Amino acid sequence: MVTRRSFMRQLGVAGAAGVYFGETLIAGAAQADVRVKSPKTPSRVWLDANENSAGPPASAIEAMVQNASHTWRYHFDEFGEFARAIAASEQVSPAQVLFGVGSSEVIASAIGAFTSESKPMITASPTYDIIVQLARAMGKAVVEIPLTPPQWSYPVKQLVEEAKKAGRGMIYLCNPNNPTGSITSVEDVRWLVSNLPADTVLFVDEAYLEFADPAKVESAIKYVREDKSVVVTRTFSKIYGMAGVRAGFGCARPDLISAMNPFMDNVIPYLGVRAGMAALQEKSTLVPERRKNNARTRTELCQWLDQNKVRYIPSQANFIMIDVKRDVREFSAAMFREGVAVGRPFPPLNTMLRVTIGSAADMQRFRQAFLKVYSA
Ligand SMILES: Cc1ncc(COP(=O)(O)O)c(C=O)c1O
Repeated sequence: MVTRRSFMRQLGVAGAAGVYFGETLIAGAAQADVRVKSPKTPSRVWLDANENSAGPPASAIEAMVQNASHTWRYHFDEFGEFARAIAASEQVSPAQVLFGVGSSEVIASAIGAFTSESKPMITASPTYDIIVQLARAMGKAVVEIPLTPPQWSYPVKQLVEEAKKAGRGMIYLCNPNNPTGSITSVEDVRWLVSNLPADTVLFVDEAYLEFADPAKVESAIKYVREDKSVVVTRTFSKIYGMAGVRAGFGCARPDLISAMNPFMDNVIPYLGVRAGMAALQEKSTLVPERRKNNARTRTELCQWLDQNKVRYIPSQANFIMIDVKRDVREFSAAMFREGVAVGRPFPPLNTMLRVTIGSAADMQRFRQAFLKVYSA
């Protein structure tokens, strides 16, 4: 039998002093202080993946701890409760809700359902590149229209023209957009919905919506309530700080949900369900508070960039694109050597660096490293 003591001996460490594989502390079930090798070590600042280091709300952690021992089941019987909680939170009916292993699963199912070799996914560039790559890998046609300064908003008229040309397909709009952090205005989204050609679905990815100023951008879920051909996704990964629990959802008309359903797995992580339901209970206070904190840290960073005459794209999200005026791959590698991980390149913006807004302390580390690399 492998006891905690023999386990530690196997690792070559005697006694209860703890085991060091790396730097991340894991409090194991047996209360052993086991440090396991983790790619995300606390000595490095991780500003690369638009995560939220505020982490899960305490109630969500409590819900996960309470339910950890129940993970032997799929819990199909409790998924309806999750759909009802999401529906109540978004003022739609449970039949208009589809939840997934992160919002990624819902996005992938929409690509599966609404695009093909002859039904393109029509979008702007650069946007959430993983989705574009996925569509291509699935053999789907993709049409990309460049985003342009100074607004970097989705060119809604061109999107509609392309959809008319194709005669069908799916328009993918990310609002706020990843990687630019820019928004597509309330008026433009309204125009897009009113001018959607027949047989075209508008897919709005709102992974970062909760970070945006509600006076500047609004959710397209209102069009789901109006029974338009619109699918909207949200996630527990970003504002709720739970990227690792893998829970997200989509809202759409029931016929669109039926079309996506065959492309979905029929189960999501149970701890994601429990954590998500706990987090939703706190939505009315947690979301505005986190939005405010993110906006404050982002504004401080922008002021510092202004003082240092560094250009950036104004952002409504928990990340920002900064012009480093040289090949971003070299710049990122140098930042990594300075202990700060930053975003991947987003061609064709080859001199732009995407940086996640972390804690105030994280951003202090970022500024130190940035100055050193920028002035080298
Ligand atoms: C725009 C956008 N949509 C969707 C996702 C996927 O998020 P998740 O699957 O964790 O919900 C991400 C992740 O970074 C993203 O940036």
